Amino acid sequence: MSATSSSPLSPVTGAAGPAAAEAPLEWHERLALRAQGGPSELSAILALAAAGGDLVDFSGGFPDTTLYDTDLLGEIAAKQIGTRPEVALQYASNWGLPSLREALRADIARNQGHVPGEDELMVTSGGVDALTLACKAMLDDGDAVLVEAPSYLGAFNVIRSHGGEPVSMRNDEHGLVPASVREAAEAARAAGRTPKFVYVIPDFQNPSGLLLAEDRRRELVDLCRELGLLLLEDVAYRDLAFDGSYLRSIYEIGPDVTVQTGTFSKTFTPGTRMGWACGPATVIRAMAEAKTNTDQCAGALGQCILEALITEGHYAASLPRIREAYAARASALVGAFEDRLDGLATWTVPEGGFFTWLDVPGVDTKELAGVGIENGVAFVPGSPFFADGRASAQLRMSFSRTPAERMAEGVDRLARSIERLRG
Ligand SMILES: Cc1ncc(COP(=O)(O)O)c(C=O)c1O
Repeated sequence: MSATSSSPLSPVTGAAGPAAAEAPLEWHERLALRAQGGPSELSAILALAAAGGDLVDFSGGFPDTTLYDTDLLGEIAAKQIGTRPEVALQYASNWGLPSLREALRADIARNQGHVPGEDELMVTSGGVDALTLACKAMLDDGDAVLVEAPSYLGAFNVIRSHGGEPVSMRNDEHGLVPASVREAAEAARAAGRTPKFVYVIPDFQNPSGLLLAEDRRRELVDLCRELGLLLLEDVAYRDLAFDGSYLRSIYEIGPDVTVQTGTFSKTFTPGTRMGWACGPATVIRAMAEAKTNTDQCAGALGQCILEALITEGHYAASLPRIREAYAARASALVGAFEDRLDGLATWTVPEGGFFTWLDVPGVDTKELAGVGIENGVAFVPGSPFFADGRASAQLRMSFSRTPAERMAEGVDRLARSIERLRG
């Protein structure tokens, strides 16, 4: 094979002349061990779902971009570029633009009773970046991170790629069971691992859709204080209660032991990758330092647009309309469940966010996902949402992007898939 005839999928030929070109390098073996796993089963399902066609897609946690006021965003972007190009088109500080940090502190005061100090908040490139920076700041090789079971699967990958090991706590039908923090911390120590932080998504959790009650939040803070553990509170869906209400955040209850991470990917747009982290200054300073060796800073143009949206009141003003749209979809989906899934499955009834979590007793939902695709419906099976990868009879459905009029058809396809597997 000659170098010129290589297809894009062929191994790259070396620079040592014709002999080397005859013996293609095995790049796979040279990848880092953590990169050799290849695409997960989940990637395969998501790729199928992305194929489109007549599929009713309940898989990804994507916002609906038709809910955004694109004229307004266009105007704001043009104004920011036109009036402050030296800021909008330049590198920003690793902490984020001071003016956006100020706006974010004021926005936190909109729904939380504790406001971070100037050195207690930084801007991140979305939620995953905030998690990444927390791992870089907190984890040494082999350390444990206590995670909900189930939890956001993207977090497991981030923890593992920073040398950490996610260790499962216990969740029940109301969300995380606080007492299981102690059990998981002890299990981690028995396995020779130092537990460093507890990762929790209290508001309309990914994947369960559940809202963690305030007494459980308080108990978590008390336990973490006693055990000397940091709480990492991920508030990705906090602004999306369908009735616009808020429970006290974990950060508000225990600012001395909590780093809160947030993202605007669900309520504004993932197109600008904007998020924040706030918490004890020592940890935030270490996270800001870590940002200098990831992407250096969040994109300044996105920061300028977000700042204008917040300070001119557009962000808060947009929330009622967005909540109403997601509430209508959740209600259409749950209505379709009631009509078609009775006796086949049970489900959580979301009061906010993007997700509902189904239990399909006696069915391996990984197998069901394959049958579902054949029948024209996509969802995410439960197993990847557990850090120990246990087999699961549960599955996550996201209603955020599915038109209300497609819900009944999608649920009928799911029901037929369950019936086919049960025989
Ligand atoms: C709980 C949770 N945290 C973080 C993220 C990632 O946020 P971002 O897309 O802003 O990186 C998601 C996205 O699905 C999420 O569900």
